[in-house]
Parts: sequence; structure tokens; C-alpha cells
Amino acid sequence: GGVENLPQMILETIDKSKEPLDSLQYAAQLKIDHQRVVGAIKSLQAHEGLIEVDEVSQKRLDLTAEGKEIAEGGSHEFKLFEHIGKDGAAQAELNIRKKDSVVDECCKQLNDLSLGGNVDDKIKAELKKRKLVAEVVIKGFRVRKGSNFSVTISKAEIDLTPDMITTGSWKTATFKKYNFDAMGVQPSCGHLHPLMKVRAEFRQIFFSMGFSEMQTNRYVESSFWNFDALFQPQQHPARDAHDTFFVSDPAAATQFPQDYLERVKTVHSKGGYGSSGYNYDWKLEEAQKNVLRTHTTAVSARQLYKLAQEGFKPARMFSIDRVFRNETLDATHLAEFHQVEGVIAERNLSLGHLIGVFTEFFKRMGIENLRFKPTYNPYTEPSMEIFAYHNGLKKWVEIGNSGMFRPEMLLPMGLPEDVNVAGYGLSLERPTMIRYGINNIRDLFGPKVDLQMIYDGPICRLDKD
Ligand code: PHE
Repeated sequence: GGVENLPQMILETIDKSKEPLDSLQYAAQLKIDHQRVVGAIKSLQAHEGLIEVDEVSQKRLDLTAEGKEIAEGGSHEFKLFEHIGKDGAAQAELNIRKKDSVVDECCKQLNDLSLGGNVDDKIKAELKKRKLVAEVVIKGFRVRKGSNFSVTISKAEIDLTPDMITTGSWKTATFKKYNFDAMGVQPSCGHLHPLMKVRAEFRQIFFSMGFSEMQTNRYVESSFWNFDALFQPQQHPARDAHDTFFVSDPAAATQFPQDYLERVKTVHSKGGYGSSGYNYDWKLEEAQKNVLRTHTTAVSARQLYKLAQEGFKPARMFSIDRVFRNETLDATHLAEFHQVEGVIAERNLSLGHLIGVFTEFFKRMGIENLRFKPTYNPYTEPSMEIFAYHNGLKKWVEIGNSGMFRPEMLLPMGLPEDVNVAGYGLSLERPTMIRYGINNIRDLFGPKVDLQMIYDGPICRLDKD
């Protein structure tokens, strides 16, 4: 019937009247549920500038459950009256029926109220006291013409087309607003990013070589674990703002293993364990500074400290996760990347063992021809860069970094003196780009990535060409 096109009716009503339309009155007037009017207003609001809407709240008396019961079935006193019957009650004290009929006043008042009729304030107060009605606040809306008002709703455009631009029709067209809350189309299945496919391969290789995975869920790390624990002096250039992202909130870490912290301080400032240290004034404030971890060796440091506390047992551990560096961005560098790191802790471990382990590791990736070059890390001695011959590029390319962790790092942790720890690390991005033939890192990671590349990317087997 009459309220088929409620949004249209509302537009016509506010077009004709000078007063704003009150949704509550309007619903009462049409004798329809207020929610329907609200729904219609909401649908009009989707058209930008069509209407202006203000919220108004109104107090109203609503029937309570008991009130509703009475409105439908009669009041308690009326029921009693009916029960007694025309001829009076059998019991003398109930013999109150003097008239043939009475009007159930209470029931009538309640019905009047619920239909929005006029009911005396005194009666309202009485009904309230008897808990047959209660005051409720209801939200309504006042609707006025908007800056872009029209009685006819033009169908909103969904896309801006080249045609609209050439004809200029975009200037007058109304566009549908983006609904950022919409659920979107359900993808038929998920797709792994190439980095995750290569990571899965690396994990498999580590597991097959008896490594277990370290916990890497800590992007924010204190300078203490990222640098100091690794015997990296506080004035080392890598620590200044050029390469490291410092976290401003919270800016400082406060919880450290106290004894260990003291030993780290001593080995930096005075030396010990056969080392002369760096001989400088080590500052707690510097160690407290929170950073986005710059390498996964921070993860290894925590794990090696834990290993020492739990009573040393030989261990092979690995991690693959994100690290962050404040670098100049170019085709091969982003401010974040993934590191793959392997750590081996054993008694009397030699450099030969380390070479043996990562040679096996790269062999399982299909890389056999390795060369090493001495390099410097503050936390390893000796340190070696690892190179592999790239058949496509016809040259030696650096594929990793490695070394034997220094006693200045291991002994303050409480590891036994005859325990050596070797480590090696590489990026996840480099092998992934080579595998997937991607030349610019921005095509692999970040906002410019083509999702189709991810959908279409083949699976990866590192040991097969
Ligand atoms: N942390 C080193 C890097 O960031 C890699 C590395 C790990 C070197 C373990 C030696 C031992 O390049």
C-alpha cells in the first residue's frame, strides 16, 4: 500500500514543507514502524548532499511487559470483577460487584498511551508508579534539504569512465561513495607471496639439517640485544640514525638481566675474558634505546643467552624474519627485508665446521660453487663473505655473510669456555628475486606489487632449476 517508495515519499515531503521532517512523527503519521523510516533516510544519505540529517532524541512512555499484558487482556481488578460473576461472589468479602458492567479504565489508558493518544499527566505518573509504563529515550532524525537536493534521485555513477572525461559529463554526475566497510569479494583461495614460498623452502632445508626455529616475534628490540650483547661498541657507525630506525614511543627499554648487563658493560668498557675491550665509557641509556631490529642476530643473541642459562647443550638454530634499516632506497634496497640466519653452537667447533655446514646448506639450494672473502663484523672473528658463481650473470655474487662469534659476546652470556658458536646469514629477497626473475625489489614487496604476479607465481623448489 501507500508506503511502497518511502525514500521518494520523504523527498517529496521535505520538498513541500518548510519544516524539517521528524522521523518519529512521520512514522506515527503513516502508522509504520520507525525503523522503516530510519532505513529510508539512511538510503538517501548515501547520495552526497541530497539531504541533511540531525539526530534528535525524544523521551516516550513505553508499556512494560506487565503493561502490555494488561493492555491486551485487561487489568487485574477487571479480571477479578469478571471472575466474581453477575450474581455476586460466593464469598461474602468478595461481594463487591454492584454494577452490571464497568469500564476497565487502566486497560483503556494503556491502550491510549501506546497509540500515542492524549493521556493526562497524573494518570501517566500513576501508571509509571505501578510499573506498567516506563520512560524510554528514542532516537529520531530530523531531515532537511541538502546542498544538492533534488526530488528525483539520479542513479549514482560507480566508475569514472574515459567517456565521462572526454564529454565533461563527470562535472555534473553524482558518484556513488566508496563503502570501505563492504566485505568485498571472497577470493577463491589464498596465495603465498614468493617470499613465503622461498621461506618455506629454506625452513625445509634447515629442518632437514637438524636445525630448530627460533622465536622471531620481536620487531622492536632494545639496542642492548641488537648491538651491545653483540659486542658492537656504542659509537659504532651502524648504530647512529643513518642506518637504524630508533623507536620514539616507547623510546627506552627497562628490563634487562641485570648480572648479564653488568658483564656486557664490563667487557665493552674494561675488557675481560682475555680481551682488552674497547676502553670507553659504556652508557646504559644508549643500550636502552629501542630500535627496529637491524638484523636477526639480535634473535640469535637472546637465544644463545637462554641456552647458557638453561645449561648448555649443543644446538643448531635458525630464524627467517624481517629486519629494518634506514637505507637509501633503490632497485635492490628497501627499508625492510628478511634475513635468513643459521647458528650452530657446539664444543670445539671450528671454522671448518662452519664452512661445512653452510656449504651443505647452499648445496641443498642447488648452489655448489662457493668462495669466501674475509670481512669484518663486530661480533664475529674470523668473518667471511660467501660468494657463488652466477651462471646467468657470469660473475661471482655475494650470497651471504658468516663468522665465528667472538668470546667477548659468548662468555658474558655464561656459555662454557670450550663452546664455539658459528653463524651465517643471507637475505631472503635476493634468492627470491633471482628465482622469480624480478629485477626491481619494488615489484616484489610493497604497495606497487602486482597481485597477479602473486596469483600466477609458480611454486618454488630451491634444489631444482
Ligand atoms: N648479521 C649479519 C648481517 O646482518 C649476518 C651474520 C649472521 C653474520 C651471523 C655472521 C653471523 O649481515
